[in-house]
Amino acid sequence: MENILSIKNLSKKFGGLIAIDNFSIDLERGQIVGIVGDNGAGKSTLIKMISGVYKPSNGEIFFKGNRIDILGPAKRRDLGIEVIYQDLSLADNLNTYVNIFMGREKKKKFLGFIDILDEKYMEEESKKILSMLSISIPSLKEEVALLSGGQRQSIAIARTIYWDAELLIMDEPTAALGVEETGKVYSLIRKLKEEGVTIIIISHNINEIYNVVDRFVILKNGKLISNCKKSKTSIDSVISMIVSGKEA
Ligand SMILES: Nc1ncnc2c1ncn2[C@@H]1O[C@H](COP(=O)(O)OP(=O)(O)O)[C@@H](O)[C@H]1O
Ligand SMILES: [Mg+2]
Repeated sequence: MENILSIKNLSKKFGGLIAIDNFSIDLERGQIVGIVGDNGAGKSTLIKMISGVYKPSNGEIFFKGNRIDILGPAKRRDLGIEVIYQDLSLADNLNTYVNIFMGREKKKKFLGFIDILDEKYMEEESKKILSMLSISIPSLKEEVALLSGGQRQSIAIARTIYWDAELLIMDEPTAALGVEETGKVYSLIRKLKEEGVTIIIISHNINEIYNVVDRFVILKNGKLISNCKKSKTSIDSVISMIVSGKEA
């Protein structure tokens, strides 16, 4: 299997604090990986270095064999690395299809010279991607503020897939959701895996992600404690590694 992501000796220092400490990992394409660890373990810092928000203090990151730690965030998105942060980065007062196209709006010429948004195209394209992912949104013209948390998370996911995400990183994707909607988001995540997307889920809820992930990456104090197959571990030993900082 091809490694979609390779991280070599990555470190991040904030002044005297070492948030990520000589971290190395290879991830195969098409897996669902859970990154877990206590508050302050370095999870957010790690994904921000993958997405390009933070520059590493040391080390290298390769995506599909190409070095990316020297590229800015926009270039990395163009390559297929997408991150959904907890706030989802949706514009609440705008509708579903405008959100899916946000920052990359389709324009058409009006009267031959004025750029206007091609609403019809954006709506049709959005319908296609939502139906491909079996996401049901009653009206794509309704502002997303009126939708449920699960529907909003689904739109954030659909947007990354429409723009060809190959590596999708999600920070606590179900933190704001009820049980039923959480289930729906995990079904969607499984569907993305079937489509060949590699997914990294950051979560503090081991029980919840246990069913969906293929591997666990366990962090403590910025150090990689374990990168283990789910089939070779258990919920109890993952929790014990998070607490003890020792591979079990
Ligand atoms: N921008 C920053 N400036 C200074 N320290 C930071 C910054 N971001 C994170 N840290 C520190 O780095 C460590 C790891 O934080 P973080 O990556 O947010 O952990 P997690 O997401 O696992 O809770 C913590 O000690 C945190 O206080
Ligand atoms: Mg965090």
